[in-house]
Amino acid sequence: MNILIKEEDIKKRVKELGKEINNDYKGKNPILIGVLKGAFVFLADLLRELEISVEIDFLGISSYTGTKSSGIVRITQDLSLNIEDRDVILIEDIVDSGRTLEYIINNLKTRRPRSIAVCTLLNKKDARVVDVPITYVGFNIPRVFVVGYGLDYENKFRNLKYIGVYHGE
Ligand code: IMP
Ligand code: MG
Repeated sequence: MNILIKEEDIKKRVKELGKEINNDYKGKNPILIGVLKGAFVFLADLLRELEISVEIDFLGISSYTGTKSSGIVRITQDLSLNIEDRDVILIEDIVDSGRTLEYIINNLKTRRPRSIAVCTLLNKKDARVVDVPITYVGFNIPRVFVVGYGLDYENKFRNLKYIGVYHGE
């Protein structure tokens, strides 16, 4: 596995993102919504950098089979909290075509939150098919298939401490 982003670099960047969110949400009580399964590692680390009052929830989404985006998005687990009139920060592992994010944002908007911001660890800017607003980006990366730090290939490699490029077995 080729390492694309080292463990130390992830740690450093997650701290920086935490600082930004602490500043932007001073005096507020946002709900962080982690998109499962990929974002759970990032969310767990980011959460511990936050000094503001926060709540967390999870949304289970399935949009990939293998290494290709199908464009078909499915909710596999709904939120448990009511987000009406709440500030929501959606936590994603990676934004690729943007289709998943577009679907999620449209879905969340129907529940009338006060605001929605998106925080993604990784951004494949050049792969974007639909335009989606992203407030916080950890790293911009090229169009390669990556695994580790929560991201998977067929549910494997989520346990890696770094982000690696997956070339197949
Ligand atoms: P999109 O709908 O094309 O933006 O795809 C977003 C989702 O696809 C992410 O939330 C990931 O679950 C998955 N995904 C996209 N690129 C990768 C990758 O390089 N490695 C692992 N999962 C990926
Ligand atoms: Mg995902």
